[in-house]
Amino acid sequence: MQTLTTIDALRCCIKAWRQEGQSIAFVPTMGNLHAGHISLVQTARQQADRVVVSIFVNPAQFGPHEDFASYPRTEQQDQTQLINSGTDLLFLPSAVEMYPNPIQTRVSVNELSSMHCGASRPGHFDGVAIVVCKLLNMVQPDILLLGEKDFQQLTVIKTMVNDLNLPVAVQGLPTVREADGLAMSSRNSYLSLSERQVAPLLYLTLCNIRDAILKGRGDFPVIIAEQTQKLKDAGFLIDYVQICRSTDLLPPTEIDQELVILIAAKLGKTRLIDNVYFIRPVSS
Ligand code: PAJ
Repeated sequence: MQTLTTIDALRCCIKAWRQEGQSIAFVPTMGNLHAGHISLVQTARQQADRVVVSIFVNPAQFGPHEDFASYPRTEQQDQTQLINSGTDLLFLPSAVEMYPNPIQTRVSVNELSSMHCGASRPGHFDGVAIVVCKLLNMVQPDILLLGEKDFQQLTVIKTMVNDLNLPVAVQGLPTVREADGLAMSSRNSYLSLSERQVAPLLYLTLCNIRDAILKGRGDFPVIIAEQTQKLKDAGFLIDYVQICRSTDLLPPTEIDQELVILIAAKLGKTRLIDNVYFIRPVSS
């Protein structure tokens, strides 16, 4: 595996691969890699001749009071995992390499970026969109692999790619979970031992809401109220729980079948997000 830190060196390597007719799959990350990230890399490995992974803790997507400074940085272990999972190139730029000047240009997927997580984290998805747009322009991959774990992020990026006609196929991959159901996340390391024990309730709640809908219940606000009470009792501070249609994350109409339940809640100082996608049968 090569590790490159400059855009020039990256472009040079990509150009050589392209001249040999090789296809490229790209997995952007912020590092502190876990099995969720590695599943993306392994799928990338199966789908293209070359696999590029980036590690960049992107300041533009953190709010002023968020965890940019304390975000876990574990480059040595990350590199070992990437070598073991067949990565060809790790792009590891500095903040100055990515943002040499204060950035003037905005990439904003307006409506999608202001709802759900966007409402609690103003500017977050603009920060994600600009960095992914820049990385796509640098790597110019055939395939971009992202996790469904960050379902709204995936939807924002799919929309951006579509709106801007970026020549890349975006693929969303299923969330990798711990044995007790907790979605793997770099931020899980912030949880105390007792918080870690109650954290799987988040996924259980999503499954309960999904199952109630699949049993035919249509009183969404009541289901949400019933189910979230248990989370509150366990010590979660709920940011939002929303049942949405999966295409644009708006409230579903009666005929929408592809749904996603999105949840964000704080446990102590840790903000956790999760979601469950499912298809409900056509109502007769
Ligand atoms: P990061 O949180 O490091 O996640 C990198 C990729 O891994 C994202 O596509 C995310 O959805 C995916 N991922 C995280 N946890 C996962 C899990 N448990 N199962 C499957 N996939 C998982 O998301 C970001 O970084 C950044 O916002 C980024 C897109 C790199 C832009 O800075």
